Amino acid sequence: MKTVRVPVSDPYDVLIGPGLLPSLGDKVRSLCPKAARYVLVTDDNVGPCWAEVCTRSLQAAGLAGDVYTLPHGEASKTAGSLIEILNFAADRRMTRSDLFVALGGGMVGDLTGLASATFMRGVSYVQLPTSLLAAVDSSVGGKTAVDLPAGKNLMGAFWQPKLVLCDTDALSTLPPADFVSGCAEVIKMSVLFDEALFERLAGEGVDFDREAVIARSVALKRDVVAQDERDTGRRALLNLGHTLGHAVEACSDYALSHGQCVAIGMAAVCRAAAKYGFCSPDVPERVVTVLERFGLPTRTHIPFPALMDRMLSDKKRSGGAIGVVVPEAIGSCSVRPMDTRTAGAFMKAGL
Ligand code: GLY
Repeated sequence: MKTVRVPVSDPYDVLIGPGLLPSLGDKVRSLCPKAARYVLVTDDNVGPCWAEVCTRSLQAAGLAGDVYTLPHGEASKTAGSLIEILNFAADRRMTRSDLFVALGGGMVGDLTGLASATFMRGVSYVQLPTSLLAAVDSSVGGKTAVDLPAGKNLMGAFWQPKLVLCDTDALSTLPPADFVSGCAEVIKMSVLFDEALFERLAGEGVDFDREAVIARSVALKRDVVAQDERDTGRRALLNLGHTLGHAVEACSDYALSHGQCVAIGMAAVCRAAAKYGFCSPDVPERVVTVLERFGLPTRTHIPFPALMDRMLSDKKRSGGAIGVVVPEAIGSCSVRPMDTRTAGAFMKAGL
């Protein structure tokens, strides 16, 4: 097992390794000694595989509770679901010393995190990520949210978990396409911060050592979050490939996975950066080779004007400027503020 400590305002551990879920109850007991109840939120894909081992462990540690199961998929990440979860917890007389447990991927984690941030003005929660994307990205860093009709993650709060337990056994029930989608975020972290991790991924492909690679990727994210808990500076680097990626995601009507869209966005930004002389031409060549090795796409047929329209409505735009994350080398990137016209021309150059 590996442990990554996240030193934010209320520090917590991310534990990564096989066979961790059966120890959930003991860990909750020592972190939340006054807790008597839990509400475990999950979805109808993950719950049948992993909820019982969690509830058994919580009950063995003396906690009573209930399971709230959502239909899987992003369509459940709504304000309506949030209210239902809050009512569910209130009806079961959950108190301020009790906790939520998020068992699932990013949708469950983001939604349960926001329920925890808002129930009685804030209660504890534990993240149990069961997708690679959630393990390396959304479960760490305290970003919680639901989607609004106008866009993704428009209603949310920063609210850090008490603990993240990443049981690598749970990733074994993940469909292969979802695992590969999560790999795009790991590749992204390596392009941003760690050439050795990049080379490891290039060499090992999807068969990488999960415990070691997830722990390294989480540690890289930890370093960013520790410096910029509230996403006002350095954390923007984590958007590498996301400005174009979000546009591809929306224009494809979410037919492509988040990881596939990030892969397309990352490849485009690397090609554009080389054309503009921000990095050497071997950067896009190496990044595209690794993405292809993982079976991730690197091009889109979506016409540029449609992508540009979506980019202009991205919430990460600030005033007239877009912070475009640009590689300078593998393992080193910077945020370049560009006006929308310059950003558009830059992205187009990479398509
Ligand atoms: N997913 C990007 C962040 O946590 O800031």
